[in-house]
Amino acid sequence: MARILVCEDSALPDGEAIKVEAPGEAVAVFRSNGDVYALADRCSHGNASMSEGYVEDDGTVECPLHAARFCLKTGAALCQPATEALRTFPVAVVEGKIYVDVPEAA
Ligand code: FES
Repeated sequence: MARILVCEDSALPDGEAIKVEAPGEAVAVFRSNGDVYALADRCSHGNASMSEGYVEDDGTVECPLHAARFCLKTGAALCQPATEALRTFPVAVVEGKIYVDVPEAA
C-alpha cells in the first residue's frame, strides 16, 4: 500500500468531496457527518467523476450523471442504473492531514 496525502483535514468540509490522482486510478475522498471515506472516482456505470457527485446526509453519494447512489462506507450501488459497487480505500487522518491508502503501482 502507498499512502497518499489528500489535503489538510480542514480543507474538506462536511458534504464535500475532493479528487486525488493515485497510481492506476483516481480516488474520490468524501466527508459525510464528520467521517471521511474514499471510493473509486469513476462511476461504475459510466464516465462520471464521483467527486463531482452529491454527498447526502445519509452517508451516500449520488452520481452527477445518471443519479445512481452509492454507500460511502461500502461502495455498494444502492439504486439503478448502477449495479456494481465502487472500490473502497482506507483513509487516515493524521496530525491534521487526510491520507488515502492505495495499492502500490504494478
Ligand atoms: S455514470 Fe454514474 S450513474 Fe451513470
